[in-house]
Amino acid sequence: MKTWIVTGGAGFIGSNFILMHRRRGAARIINLDKLTYAGNLANLEDLRGDAGYQFVRGDVADRALVGALLREHRPDAVIHLAAESHVDRSIQEPGAFIRTNVVGTFCLLDEVLGYWRELPGGRQEAFRFLHVSTDEVYGSLGPEEPPFTEDSPHRPNSPYAASKAGSDHLVRAYNRTYGLPTLTTNCSNNYGPYQFPEKLIPLMTINALAGKPLPIYGDGGNVRDWLFVEDHCEALAAVLEAGRPGETYNVGGRCELANLELVRTLCRLLDQARPDSPHVPHELFITFVPDRPGHDRRYATDCTRIGTELGWRPRESFQSGLEKTLRWYMEHGEWVDSVQSGEYTEWIGRQYGTQ
Ligand code: NAD
Ligand code: TYD
Repeated sequence: MKTWIVTGGAGFIGSNFILMHRRRGAARIINLDKLTYAGNLANLEDLRGDAGYQFVRGDVADRALVGALLREHRPDAVIHLAAESHVDRSIQEPGAFIRTNVVGTFCLLDEVLGYWRELPGGRQEAFRFLHVSTDEVYGSLGPEEPPFTEDSPHRPNSPYAASKAGSDHLVRAYNRTYGLPTLTTNCSNNYGPYQFPEKLIPLMTINALAGKPLPIYGDGGNVRDWLFVEDHCEALAAVLEAGRPGETYNVGGRCELANLELVRTLCRLLDQARPDSPHVPHELFITFVPDRPGHDRRYATDCTRIGTELGWRPRESFQSGLEKTLRWYMEHGEWVDSVQSGEYTEWIGRQYGTQ
């Protein structure tokens, strides 16, 4: 059986990825995660007692730890998801984004390079470093512009996007300069179970269910391309399996929606799911708040390459994916309560004022 080291596996996408691939027995998985506010071991509770899964608490920038893990476990692939990931936090405190996303990615790459160079021929050829990135590195599109392709220039506008762009460039350089067999994916906005409620969909869901304000930035006309998280995890597996080393692959849902339209849809689905709630119609809780500085107007992702080369396409429609997601949040009140810790309340206060 193969061995994978997954970084950031206690976060939203990482935990979905590990749960999916341990369920399938795809590989033995070692999860290296620092457990920042966004990392949550409760996400991986279903793997208790699974001998093919191991958690290690640590920082991707800790070279000694990373080097030791590589020598001990001799992985066939490293799947790098660890990152600071929230744009609004990157505006308030960019330093952590540079430390983890840029310096951390560099430390990880450099340790992996040393490990990879010492692998015997066949294993060296088969080894992969999969870097999980975002479409936000491409910047913002006008309403009529075609979607981002893999050849679109990196034009990041937030500290988060800039730090991810920096990591993309380092990954590219380690492939072009040293021949490390890297793969990069640039994916659009994900949603689904286990997403920390600082991002749009879980924040709106939790607030709506509690009858709290639903804060829309600016005019609500900013457009994002939405993808159900399990479709992203399938895409990562497809790229890992058959992607061409040194290549990048865009991943997206072909599902562009303006924020206001999305939140109205979410409210309508909650009205249907909870017809007796005193908060129906949930839409009445929508409030417009000052815009995010440097707020990208529109993202859209052209994922022709991954479709034609690897046969990947999203399975979930936005309607079915959103219904699953809302159901998950309604059925996991304990998880929701546990992540709304002191730190979360402080963040909400800093970002939105006290609600
Ligand atoms: P997340 O914030 O939910 O999880 C990030 C995880 O990384 C957490 O478990 C955290 O503890 C861990 N981490 C942070 N710093 C670390 C460090 N220095 N060392 C080790 N672990 C550390 O993020 P997510 O939404 O799951 O995103 C995962 C990856 O996918 C990120 O690289 C992000 O840029 C990328 N991505 C996310 C989206 C999205 O919509 N969420 C879309 C495209 C790409
Ligand atoms: P977010 O989930 O933070 O993802 P990203 O900024 O990485 O795309 O935000 C998605 C969109 O929703 C983005 O246009 C900002 C907007 N938004 C709000 O209007 N209100 C909010 O409270 C949040 C968190 C986001």
